[in-house]
Amino acid sequence: MKQTVAPARKIGGVITLRGDKSISHRYAMLGAIAEGTTTISNYSTGADCQSTLGAVAALGAGVEHVDGLVKIHGGTLKAPSADLDAGNSGSTIRMLSGILAAQAFDCRIGGDDSLSRRPMQRIMTPLAEMGASIEARDGRFPPLSIHGRALRGIDYTLPMASAQVKSCVLLAGLFAKGDTIVREPVRTRDHTEIALREFGAEIEVDRRTITLREGARLTGREVTVPGDLSSAAFFLVAALMAPEANLVIHGVGLNPTRSALLDFLVSIGAQMKVLDVQQTSGELVGDLRVRSSKITGGVIEGAMTAALIDEIPALAVLGAASEHGLTVRDAGELRVKETDRIATLERNFKRMGVQMETSPDGFHLPGGQKFHAAQIDPEGDHRIAMAFAVAALAADGPCAIDGAEAADVSFPEFFSTLHQITG
Ligand code: S3P
Repeated sequence: MKQTVAPARKIGGVITLRGDKSISHRYAMLGAIAEGTTTISNYSTGADCQSTLGAVAALGAGVEHVDGLVKIHGGTLKAPSADLDAGNSGSTIRMLSGILAAQAFDCRIGGDDSLSRRPMQRIMTPLAEMGASIEARDGRFPPLSIHGRALRGIDYTLPMASAQVKSCVLLAGLFAKGDTIVREPVRTRDHTEIALREFGAEIEVDRRTITLREGARLTGREVTVPGDLSSAAFFLVAALMAPEANLVIHGVGLNPTRSALLDFLVSIGAQMKVLDVQQTSGELVGDLRVRSSKITGGVIEGAMTAALIDEIPALAVLGAASEHGLTVRDAGELRVKETDRIATLERNFKRMGVQMETSPDGFHLPGGQKFHAAQIDPEGDHRIAMAFAVAALAADGPCAIDGAEAADVSFPEFFSTLHQITG
């Protein structure tokens, strides 16, 4: 499906976004293994989170959609009758594998072409240390054949910043004999730790060391998913770049391990306010007001890169339009996302006449660049499709986004919301 996005001078209105993708996955998985019923409000409508629901249903959890809520009747999982399909979702395959490795059955989990190229050794190594038996295509790619085993807790130092790997080990730890300790090189999103505590597990966090106590008994809950800050990022960037903008985004997740985005934007000149912060199911939620701003540009590196990893496509667009440009370092992980995002950004910026210098683990975009009307190919990557739709708002003519349905992976309402805020 092709979407044409016309330039827009003005951005405004009040919008509410559907539930955070990361948190939705976790609630669905914990709901499936918790005793009793979990009721989830504002579950993500994205295809990735539907893949997780499909997988837990195939594993015997009861999944119902009632009055806009997702209800999960959880308990002991059973062997699926066919291979599990994670679709495009790295979170589904990596996190669910931690649970599957500890079950009393064998199964296989795979996904689409993009997922089938994504590295899985990062979860296979710690799970093998816990006693798991997993085979992968060529030893490292999906599909994974998982032979359920009794697991033991480990003390594991993550070699990379990855909340998915951390979560995989912690979820496996729920079924393991002994405590499970995970040490992170830099702090990554802590939704799993918060959700585990919410569902009744005993978990301690001491800076970058997380200890999950043996023998957790999870029970079903009523939980609410905050609006997705990574989805909000596209509209924040759109508003900041527009000549006239005044946009309010209601009910956005503001977990401190995710909200580095807001700090970074303010540090480069964003006129933005956080209003009415509250807590729901252990997560912070608030409203954001953003106005058009003069953006200076900046550098993203080290722990900041890990904290902003999903927002870098949107920030790249802002960076190219900023006064001094944007430099991103320590971002090798971008090369193993749904696409090699450094390469897909470069190819699409080139189509728009935007200059970008790349390195194996980063890039530099000089500032003050003009975006020319172009035909964009997101190569099936949702965040690339949405980032360039935002770039198109600032282009010198209408842009065609080919394969725009890629956005459905995390944000099926993206284009309708974009039309709403541009009038
Ligand atoms: C996620 C963690 C990040 C992120 C992904 C969602 C999560 O991946 O890019 O979109 O929900 O834990 P990594 O763990 O691979 O960094």
